[in-house]
Amino acid sequence: MGKITVRTIKKLKENNEKFSMLTAYDYSTAKYIDQAGIDIILIGDSLAMVALGYENTNNIGIDEMAIFTKAVARGAKSAMIVTDMPFMSYTIDIPEALHNIGNMIKCGANAVKLEGCNDYILELVKRCTQMGVPVMGHIGFTPQSLNVIGGHIIQGKNVDATMQLLEQAKKLEQAGAFSVVLEMVPEESAEYISKNLDISTISCGAGRYCDGFVMVCDDLFGKYSEFTPKFARKYANMQELITTSTQKYIEDIKNNNYPNENEVYKLAPQDAAELEKYTNKCLC
Ligand code: KIV
Repeated sequence: MGKITVRTIKKLKENNEKFSMLTAYDYSTAKYIDQAGIDIILIGDSLAMVALGYENTNNIGIDEMAIFTKAVARGAKSAMIVTDMPFMSYTIDIPEALHNIGNMIKCGANAVKLEGCNDYILELVKRCTQMGVPVMGHIGFTPQSLNVIGGHIIQGKNVDATMQLLEQAKKLEQAGAFSVVLEMVPEESAEYISKNLDISTISCGAGRYCDGFVMVCDDLFGKYSEFTPKFARKYANMQELITTSTQKYIEDIKNNNYPNENEVYKLAPQDAAELEKYTNKCLC
């Protein structure tokens, strides 16, 4: 399969075809989900919580995002790679933001995701697009503003709020964004926004009628158990797999079942016989 680009995403919307997006943070996960056919891999700042054990997504810095972006880029061949710009790495001023965004592209990202839609963000989206960096917007519930919003609160809950979200999405589209994540938005609102936008919408708890859908891989694989949003669907139980396989490993060691005959390196027979002669001799 060829590389997924902004053109592929645009075509999918034109043809009314859905696309898939999943987070990944390491080389082997990126490799397997890429081979499985995922369209977009997001190095989400959710990695702060699910892979690094921080309390929220605001605890991660640009240097850490760089390490994980490089790992994912080494594993994924076809999927479009999008790096989430972390808290305060793009909001202080445009030169610093462009410097940090440029570094993520040098680490292997094909695009970046930016949260929010004020005049500053719109100017940044414009500048990135002019510089050759595709931008994915992110509106609705924006986790980096958790402390200002005051909780995980559904956004766009009435007609006025829906119209405001559509206006934001349209401004992002005009500024050059190629897609926009809608997080924690009622599906009727998300459907209305999707139908009135040329760029693709991506549902993150925004119902069934967006153009693309995203999940955090640790939720999908059943690996992260501290917090599971309503819209996360668990397709596997890796937590159980990790626990039971570790318990079996410990048991095998205790019962002298690990390693077995096929899992060891052996001396050549003549060297083994030679060594045998020393077996009962003390070398000290
Ligand atoms: O950080 C993340 O994983 C995200 C997605 C869930 C949209 O921003």
